[in-house]
Parts: sequence; C-alpha cells; structure tokens
Amino acid sequence: MIARLSLTVALIALVIGAFISAPALAQQPLKIGLILPMTGPFASTGRQADAAVKLYIAEHGDVVAGRKIEVLLRDDANAPETTKRYAQELITNDHVEILAGFGLTPLAYAAAPVATAAKVPMIVMCAGTVNVPEKSPYIIRTSFTLPQNTAPIAVWAAKHGIKKVFTMVAEYAPGIDAETTFLNVFKAEGGQIVGSVRVPMQNPDYAPFVQRAKDAKPDALFVFVPSGEGAAVMKQFAERGLAQAGIKLIGTGDVVDDDILDSMGDPAIGTITSFHYSADHPSAENKAYVAASEKANPGMRPNFMSVGGWDGMMLIYEVLKKTNGSADGDKFLAAAEGMSLIGPQGKFTIDPKARDIIQDVYIRETKRVNGHLYNVEFDRIPNVQHNGKY
Ligand code: DHB
Repeated sequence: MIARLSLTVALIALVIGAFISAPALAQQPLKIGLILPMTGPFASTGRQADAAVKLYIAEHGDVVAGRKIEVLLRDDANAPETTKRYAQELITNDHVEILAGFGLTPLAYAAAPVATAAKVPMIVMCAGTVNVPEKSPYIIRTSFTLPQNTAPIAVWAAKHGIKKVFTMVAEYAPGIDAETTFLNVFKAEGGQIVGSVRVPMQNPDYAPFVQRAKDAKPDALFVFVPSGEGAAVMKQFAERGLAQAGIKLIGTGDVVDDDILDSMGDPAIGTITSFHYSADHPSAENKAYVAASEKANPGMRPNFMSVGGWDGMMLIYEVLKKTNGSADGDKFLAAAEGMSLIGPQGKFTIDPKARDIIQDVYIRETKRVNGHLYNVEFDRIPNVQHNGKY
C-alpha cells in the first residue's frame, strides 16, 4: 500500500515536472529595452512609437515562440548621453536581449556602439539619416530614410512646372541628407536652386529663414524639419504671405506630420509632400490601424513614428517565430534580412545588405476631408530604397 502510494506520488511529481520545468526554461521572458524621447521637445515622437508598441502587443499577445515579451521603456528626453547610458544599463543590469526605439538620429548614433559591443539587435523605429545602419552591424531600421522620402518630391517638382526652389532644412544629419538629396535630384532633373538655409536645432526661429526664402522669389520652398516642428514653419509661411507671393510649399511629409496637421489650419492646404505614410492611406490594413490606434489613444492620430514602432514590433515577432524565440544577435539579423511584411503603409522589405527599409513612397496633397486636414495620396513610387533610388 505504502509502496503503491509512493509510486503514485513519484508519477504525479514526474508528470507535473514534465509540464512545468521544461516549458519554464523555454519560457524565460524576453526583455526589450525601448528607449524613446518621452519628454522634451520631441515627446510626440516617443508617445507615438510607444503607443504603437503597446497596441501591437495588445493585438498579438505578449507571448511569441514560447517567450513572454516584456518591454522596459526608458525616457532619454532627446539627450544622446542618456540614450547611451540607458542602453548600457538595460543590457548589463536588466538583461534585455533587444534594443528598440531611437527617436532622433543623434540618439541612434549614441546607442550603436553599445549594441555592437553586446551583439544585441537594435531596431531603429524612428530615426531617418541614411547612414544610421552603418553605425552598427546589429542595426535594422523599420522607419524610413530622408533620401527615400526626398528624391520623389524632387522629381515630382521638376516634372510639374517648378523651375526654381529654395531649400530650408533643420541643421543636423537628417536635414543635411534631405538638402543633399533634393539638390542632387532636382538639378539632375533640370531644376535650379536659388538658395539653401539650415535652421539651428536649438529653439529654432523660422521667421528670418522663411523671409529669406520669400526674398529669393522661388517657385517653391522645399522644407525638412523633424516631427513636431511643422506647425511653427507653417505659421511663418502663412504670416509672411509666401502663398500670396506665388510660392508653393513642398517637402518631405515630416512638415505636415499627422500628429499635428489638423492644428495647422488652412495655411497647410495645398502643401505637396512625398512620404511613406499618411493616416489617410486608403488600405483596409491602414483603416483598421487608424481606428484601433485612435480607440486606444483618444485624441491622437497615428503618424509615421507610430508606424515605425508598429513595424518594428511586427519585425521582432516575425523574426522570433523564425528563430524559435532566439534573439541572438547574429541569428536575429540573419532571419530579419530580406524579410517582407505588410504594415499600415503597405508592403515593406528589409534590404539584406543595407539592413534598411525598402517601401513605397507616395506624393500627397494636404486637403480638408470631412472637416479635418489629411495628406491625400495621389501618386505612388514603388519600392524606394534607403538611398533614394527606385
Ligand atoms: C528624424 C527625426 C524626425 O522627427 C523626423 O521627422 C525625421 C528624422 C531623425 O532625427 O532622424
């Protein structure tokens, strides 16, 4: 009797052990360190990307390939030294296996050496300077690049009666990328540049620069400013009467960012931009995305920073399915390279050599639709590469 009882106990222990201990090992949580500017002048970038990461997990569950996903959010407040310190602490103290986020280029640059030293995959969800992935072999980008979003508007302008352009960009790496690409492509298409200015990033005052643009009498003013700055540019464009002087506003879509577009009012109407994402993109996937995002975040329209965060999480989930839950740097990179997925903006592919995003870019016009301002797409340039080639 006693012998039979202890056999039963032993059997039960075996069965319980088989169910608990083996999966418990496989189901070590997988921690992702998400570093974003949640405060400071670029807080809207952090808010958008973080909301998208949360929405992706809410819709797809927090377990992938047997591993529970835990996101550790850190606010770098747009200070590169803080980004770097958080990247180090997250890896060393919190044992994160993936780094993600990176709201602006200098923040991505700061974290890159940390990812390289630790061989940790680093998913760039927001920054757009073309050379970001060159800063670490463990970087993969799901956002966009400035050459990618600039070349199409330069071609469009040259082909649509715009002969003379004045350029105005934010004075840091993505601005230089936008300016260089616009100048090269527009001139190659036969256009003329009548002036170029770079506006300092610290407390920018656009007034004197917009006035110089007006005085140069171009057919159009090309603008790149980072997400969040567009409203201040639009205010000067309106106050200084550039539209009345016959000067058209063109740019990458950053200047008519969906996050703040509706607050810009009538002066934004008629702006022509090229960009990979519009909240007005008429696909079924995007309609569902915008609806779910607005429901989860009342009063906030998802913008391109949101899409970079969503696409980044989707990439992480799909890669982990391929690697059976391993985030080992080399395995992760090998699985991600060449991967094609469908995001709110449409199909995108990770260029296996550049580790950068290939996606369609649209030409859009800002219009009032049902009482709200939207960037309405009217032309599509398929599969634009990170270097702006297509
Ligand atoms: C970057 C930041 C932005 O907000 C943007 O719209 C484009 C580029 C950047 O710093 O890379």
